[in-house]
Amino acid sequence: MSKMHDFEFYYFKSISSTNDKAKEMADEGKSNIVVVAEKQEKGRGRFGRKWNSSLGGLYMTIVLEEKNPDKAKYMTFMASVAVAKTIRKLAKLNAMVKWPNDVLVNDKKVCGILTEIISGKKNYALIGIGLNVNQKKFDKEIRDKATSMRIESNKDFDIKSVSKSIIAEFNKLYQNYTIGDYGKILRLWKEYSHTLGRKIMAKTISGTYVGKAVDIDKDCSLVLKLDNGKEQKIIEGDIFIV
Ligand code: BTN
Repeated sequence: MSKMHDFEFYYFKSISSTNDKAKEMADEGKSNIVVVAEKQEKGRGRFGRKWNSSLGGLYMTIVLEEKNPDKAKYMTFMASVAVAKTIRKLAKLNAMVKWPNDVLVNDKKVCGILTEIISGKKNYALIGIGLNVNQKKFDKEIRDKATSMRIESNKDFDIKSVSKSIIAEFNKLYQNYTIGDYGKILRLWKEYSHTLGRKIMAKTISGTYVGKAVDIDKDCSLVLKLDNGKEQKIIEGDIFIV
């Protein structure tokens, strides 16, 4: 087994986006670091969407040097599992992972992950994690689908401890990654999966597909079994339960 990685934490009160700060730091050659902020002015989600980044949430980005950018999706999976484990441990809630990059509690989104790769002389993975921790309510546009650890458990959490716990869990999974045991990461993700076995509608750039989520393949794509019996691989997109 390779050695556990040491991560250096950088805390900020307010920042534009922890992913942007992480990119600046990676450009200076820093890796094995975690950028944490109490709030973000310009928090972003997938597809350029805005990420609600008010006080009370955890906003953090892990920076790792990455030799295989094609394996980046595993970073998202490792982060999802690390967050789900942390929520289960600290809040005793039944957190589950939703393909491709969310964590849910009681069918609502509690966490989103945005992994970005920067390529240059060295490649870096920026794994941005937005976890709703102590928020008591959300803007009305997302109220029906978002939740926080506080809303679901009625408890408050120390945000630094939550970030430390996520990194400790992530680190364990990263051991598997560094020795190339991607199967272990997939097995763990599947164990926590909210997606597999359900009837799903997937919206992708190439079209909309409806079918049963039957598997996750080796490149982290979602495999749907369509009504006509054929299997359809979904590489990227949003999914909805139907
Ligand atoms: C999504 O669900 O679309 C992903 C949301 C990712 C949000 C996190 S918060 C920390 C990091 N900084 C950002 O600007 N975004 C990610």
